[in-house]
Amino acid sequence: MFCCISCKNNNERNLVNQQMANDKKSVIDQKVDSLLSLMTLEEKIGQMNQYNGFMDFTGPVPNEEDIERKFEHIKKGYVGSILNVRGVEEIRAVQKIAVEQSRLGIPLIFGFDVIHGYQTMSPIPLAEAASWDLKAIKESARLAAKEAAAAGINWTFAPMVDISRDARWGRVMEGAGEDPYLGSKIATARVKGFQGDDLSDKESIIACAKHFAAYGFPESGREYNNADLGTSTLYNVVLPPFQAANSAGVRTFMNSFNQLNGIPATANSFLLRDILKEKWSFDGFVVSDWGSVAELIPHGYARDASIASKLAVNAGTDMDMESYFYLNELVKLVNDDQVNTSTINDAVRRILKVKFELGLFDNPYKYCDKNLEKKIIGSTEIASGALDMALKSVVLLKNENQTLPLKKKGQKVLLVGALASDKDSPLGNWRAAAIENSAVSILEGMQQYDENLIYSKGPELILGKTEFAKEVQINTQDRFGMKEAIQAAKDVDVVVMVLGEHGLQSGEGRSRSRLDLPGLQQELLEKVFKVNRNIVLVLNNGRPLAIPWAKKNIPAIVEAWQLGSQSGNAVAQVLYGDYNPSGKLPMTFPRSIGQVPIYYNHKSTGRPNLPSADFVFWSHYQDESNEPLWAFGHGLSYSKFEYTDLKVVNNYSTNGIVKVELTLTNNSNRKGKEVVQLYLKDKFSKVVRPVKELKGFQLIELAPNTSIQVKFELADRELGFYDNEGKWFIEQGDFEVYVGGSSSTDLSRSFKLLN
Ligand code: NOJ
Repeated sequence: MFCCISCKNNNERNLVNQQMANDKKSVIDQKVDSLLSLMTLEEKIGQMNQYNGFMDFTGPVPNEEDIERKFEHIKKGYVGSILNVRGVEEIRAVQKIAVEQSRLGIPLIFGFDVIHGYQTMSPIPLAEAASWDLKAIKESARLAAKEAAAAGINWTFAPMVDISRDARWGRVMEGAGEDPYLGSKIATARVKGFQGDDLSDKESIIACAKHFAAYGFPESGREYNNADLGTSTLYNVVLPPFQAANSAGVRTFMNSFNQLNGIPATANSFLLRDILKEKWSFDGFVVSDWGSVAELIPHGYARDASIASKLAVNAGTDMDMESYFYLNELVKLVNDDQVNTSTINDAVRRILKVKFELGLFDNPYKYCDKNLEKKIIGSTEIASGALDMALKSVVLLKNENQTLPLKKKGQKVLLVGALASDKDSPLGNWRAAAIENSAVSILEGMQQYDENLIYSKGPELILGKTEFAKEVQINTQDRFGMKEAIQAAKDVDVVVMVLGEHGLQSGEGRSRSRLDLPGLQQELLEKVFKVNRNIVLVLNNGRPLAIPWAKKNIPAIVEAWQLGSQSGNAVAQVLYGDYNPSGKLPMTFPRSIGQVPIYYNHKSTGRPNLPSADFVFWSHYQDESNEPLWAFGHGLSYSKFEYTDLKVVNNYSTNGIVKVELTLTNNSNRKGKEVVQLYLKDKFSKVVRPVKELKGFQLIELAPNTSIQVKFELADRELGFYDNEGKWFIEQGDFEVYVGGSSSTDLSRSFKLLN
């Protein structure tokens, strides 16, 4: 039954579209099968081999002999994909060898880490997540895909959908933070942005959900370390964003470097076969992480290359990234009946299918248009998208005494900090093809508003030149510039201090054991504060920082992450009030490193509260509070929002829906946006549920002094959870629903779920 003609028409259109998609699929399946029947075993295994290109981007530069051999292998059809080759000219040249010189002319797929932009950098993914703006995040991925596709790339190793609760881990910059609900929505947005509606579109590239799985839970926050994880966390926290990416149609998965409960993810058939390929029916292909098939040996899981290859391929890793193991070992393993031909066929089928879907067989040079490359890369369209995303990613953490916005006239402003004039750090870690020092610095951004702006750099943050694959050297000794900055601060109305981490202090291989302001920055902050308390602290960082002194003493604090190419323009617009910030933290900020992992959706203990003063036997620290510095979901605005009239209409027993309604009021004279957050607590459960879980949010713009009624609906998808066997379960009984502007809200109502 249809409620109206237009619904009927839509429905019919959907059916037709579905039918067409199925037809296309079966045509592709037939083409794949007929190609497969022509291939030798060596050529099939060749499709499962991915080589690094010929530049030093994510690994060591191959030597000359290596390059020669790679070329030869492409000619023989022993390579299915290449990563880290970019630019239309280069890609066309390599593709030409594959298509014209190999026996079957199967085109290569070109992969690249387009994580937050290609040449034009958008904010780091953690910053984008702070926008809670799914439309903007999707658009940001779309523009990144467009720019990368114009450079010949057709596969990005993004999105990273690893949930993490550990700010020590450098890769939190690459994810969407600590929450599986927000993380799943963002995973969907990013996949849809990269892949678009149609993969054969010239601006679409295939996405890769990574790192499957539990890479975000490395012990002690140390990169590449292993994860030991209970099933409750695995099913309810780690896996949901991957499942969301799969439902959004992501065409590839990348596995992770870590062991999960003693089994390396690369050879983990529980993850790759039982869950991904069977339970979730994923029909794309799985690529290993860089050399992770070879790493099965140092993990202590495989004795040699042959066993490593056998374990990885049997477990479901379809493509070997830069280990060279599959190419060297699989033929013999098949001939010795150690690996079934059907396993190889399945892997190759998956890879070929994606190549067909991308349209590479119709036109292997589909992404190789010189004119487009010239027109799109670095265009104003992409730059203005990056600015829009950067503005939406800023989080106003504190603003006392209306310190912000700065006045556009009549205020003497001093800008301090090495990061303030840095044009490189805002590009972040995964800077793909960004041009060095190409970001708009905060100094440049602010100068557009204040031609009398005074800048005093203070001590350097970094010693020497930074490089993607090298440790950054932090200045801890050289105080040159400190005195001048303090002196200059005495004589101004307000001091804007830009402090935090360099863009290359987070990302792969960049774990930290401290979460403070690195180098001499805390000293600089405190010394400037002694002479002028009217400070605006602008943070640049790729992870949550533990900065309790700053929170206590500094009147205004702005979280500006690494915002990409347009960083300075975005920060200046926020500081001078031309843009009203609306970002909210996607990760808890700890008070001290000892609290890590700290996350809002933890479970209660048997002793959660202090029963009486000075009593010791409850779950706490002697020397630190249990509270975070800033809670997940926290973020202010220049407007003032209030939440009232919360009510629950519980129709679960009749139609399976619990309605939640509230009034949101903008009690200020400024138009602004607020992320209204809804959290749920399932009070008593057969597997204990967290004290609060995000189950809905809406980004709402409100005119000054107006109100709006906000409505949410909770159904089984929000109300249930995975039990320890991975089965979805809806618990009857008592629930508490919370709404507010952060996870620390205590505005709540209770309801009961009865069938
Ligand atoms: C290793 C990283 O873990 C992965 O995320 C990345 O995509 C590959 N290197 C390729 O650069």
